[in-house]
Amino acid sequence: SSILLINGPNLNLLGTREPHIYGATTLPQVEEAAAQQASSLSMQLSSFQSNHEGAIIDRIHEARGKVDAIIINPGAFTHTSVAIRDALGGVAIPFIEVHISNVHAREAFRHHSYLSDKAVAVVAGLGVYGYTAAIDHIAKTFKALDK
Ligand code: DQA
Repeated sequence: SSILLINGPNLNLLGTREPHIYGATTLPQVEEAAAQQASSLSMQLSSFQSNHEGAIIDRIHEARGKVDAIIINPGAFTHTSVAIRDALGGVAIPFIEVHISNVHAREAFRHHSYLSDKAVAVVAGLGVYGYTAAIDHIAKTFKALDK
């Protein structure tokens, strides 16, 4: 099975961006660890990051028919983007929403997500371990489905 990992705006700054909130791990480290974890579970994982809403939507469209599950940290687009919600619905690929920080312990505008009610699962506040947990969950689900 194959997984697409998508990180949205400002997540390219991971490791240097507000490290008290987002930690010291960089995005290349997250992506490398994710690919290794997936391959150790007999899955393939490709990674994509963009600061542009339309580019994220295009990448979701490209995944149609090729990817079994999406792990997405939409960054601030979580709280603004009906278009990313519609893209995920349009390709009908199951997805897990990941937030490094606990968005519910932060500003009120971070409490609402346009994606959560459509997600298989939502992870928030586990740091970059959230990505690990999401990959592990997908592996277990697919194994149970014999996929
Ligand atoms: C985030 C939380 C969002 O509110 C914020 O805009 C981000 C990162 C997280 O991973 O905790 O860019 O998605």
